[in-house]
Amino acid sequence: MHRKEFIKFSGVGVLAAALSPSLALCNFSGQNRSVKGAGKANPDFMPNLEIELTSVQRDIELFPGQKTTVFTYLSRMLRGDDSSLQALQNSYLGPIIKVKQGQKVRVIFKNQLSEESIIHWHGLHIPHEMDGHPMYVIDRDEEFVYEFEINNRPGTYWFHPHPHGKTGPQVYGGLAGLFIVEDQRDDLPSADQDVPLVIQDRIFDDSNQLVYLQGSPMERMTGFLGNHLMINGRPDAAMNVVKGTYRFRILNGSNSRIYKLAWSDGEHLTLIGTDGGLLAAPLKKPYLMLGPGERVEVWRDFSEHPAGTEITLQSLSFNSGTSMGMMGNRGMRGRGMGGMMGGAMGQAPAGVENGAGFDLFTFVVSNTAGQKMSLPAEFGPIKPLNIAEAVNPNAPRQFNFHFQRMQWLINGKTFDTYEVADWEKVKLNTTEIWEFVNGGGGGMGMMGNRMQMPHPVHVHGLQFQIIDRDPSGVPADVWRDMQEGFVDQGWQDTFLLLPGERVRIALRFEDFKGIFLYHCHNLEHEDMGMMRNYEVI
Ligand code: C2O
Ligand code: CU
Ligand code: CU
Repeated sequence: MHRKEFIKFSGVGVLAAALSPSLALCNFSGQNRSVKGAGKANPDFMPNLEIELTSVQRDIELFPGQKTTVFTYLSRMLRGDDSSLQALQNSYLGPIIKVKQGQKVRVIFKNQLSEESIIHWHGLHIPHEMDGHPMYVIDRDEEFVYEFEINNRPGTYWFHPHPHGKTGPQVYGGLAGLFIVEDQRDDLPSADQDVPLVIQDRIFDDSNQLVYLQGSPMERMTGFLGNHLMINGRPDAAMNVVKGTYRFRILNGSNSRIYKLAWSDGEHLTLIGTDGGLLAAPLKKPYLMLGPGERVEVWRDFSEHPAGTEITLQSLSFNSGTSMGMMGNRGMRGRGMGGMMGGAMGQAPAGVENGAGFDLFTFVVSNTAGQKMSLPAEFGPIKPLNIAEAVNPNAPRQFNFHFQRMQWLINGKTFDTYEVADWEKVKLNTTEIWEFVNGGGGGMGMMGNRMQMPHPVHVHGLQFQIIDRDPSGVPADVWRDMQEGFVDQGWQDTFLLLPGERVRIALRFEDFKGIFLYHCHNLEHEDMGMMRNYEVI
């Protein structure tokens, strides 16, 4: 099988970055006041699934020749069904954890990294103490015990570290895994035809080592962008598929890269699920925009293709609307070898710009017959949140994601571990409308450009619904390239907010009081402080 060709890097002198401790970035304030006493096992909690996850640094074989130093989660089943835990072979990605609604789960997290960490369960509706807030970070050799019941709809969720200022490098190093709440349906592909695809970009040096933010200082402003695609924590470019129907659970696990997914044979993408599980009915799209942190489930049938047919999941090129002023790359389009931002600064080269086009993964149809299924017409209604009953139907809470003082901020504020502003407090058992605005930033660039780029907005602790998008402030060429690729139906926990765009969402605060995060899921932006607390009181 030919190797997947992302954009081949042609520069010289990539700096090798040992994963630790040089990947640990500057320390941010408020880091060492961790909350003691939380994270202990409760003897009254009776789990029917108990798993141990240990974060470690390891050398694994990704490429021929030298092994690659990564971070990874080792896993061990302590109680429960073996099928609930699936480790990935020769991959840096953590195990796939499979649970059922109503199940009681205990996870014993042991930190063996030489720096602090904590695990966040992205998309899960669980209590504040279980959510992996950075206030709960633990040091090396410490443990944190999570105990929660699965309240979420069946769907594709995930877990990753969340220590403030270090989430980017830790996820980049390899710490992440899928967390699947299984459905009990027999009208959807299952077993080997239910396939996860975690998409991430990386840079490797000549000795197969990961390189993180070694290029120009502007790299941290845009977020890390690699030049090499990894699927499920492996460099493999292709897999064989049976003549049958597949359900692909796709997670954009990249630090900051956005994908414009499409099939190479021109067939529309058939979407069946979003962040929070199945849609009410399947949806067909010519392409799909997937920002960091977002998941989508795609239905694809290979049964009519002759053996040997190759069908590739691609990321098409698009104008992301990224404008970093100094770099003057406004309007720059993906064209394979473009975007050597770091190189232009005379430093170690960075990756390829957001919006470059490339092949992600190729499916090669085999001779083996598989299970063929017909696409259900619907999956069951999704009740819209009642906007008329919201506490602020005509006056949404506003959150401006913008750039100021050489920082990415939310409403002029940066992250503080314990701070909750008045405008970040909501009441339990209420529905609210929030409006997110991508306001860009003042003329920081040498050419007077506004600093702006898309931000993947994520809210912890719940699934929300998107009410509408107002693209009237989005540059026309940017909107034209992406407008057909948004799935705003169904339940979401993360969505893309384009430069100049306004998006209104409806959220319902139920079951749990306490502090939860909302932030940009561009992990470099998040680490830089584009994150805030909201509190349910
Ligand atoms: Cu997946 Cu707070 O994030
Ligand atoms: Cu999250
Ligand atoms: Cu951002």
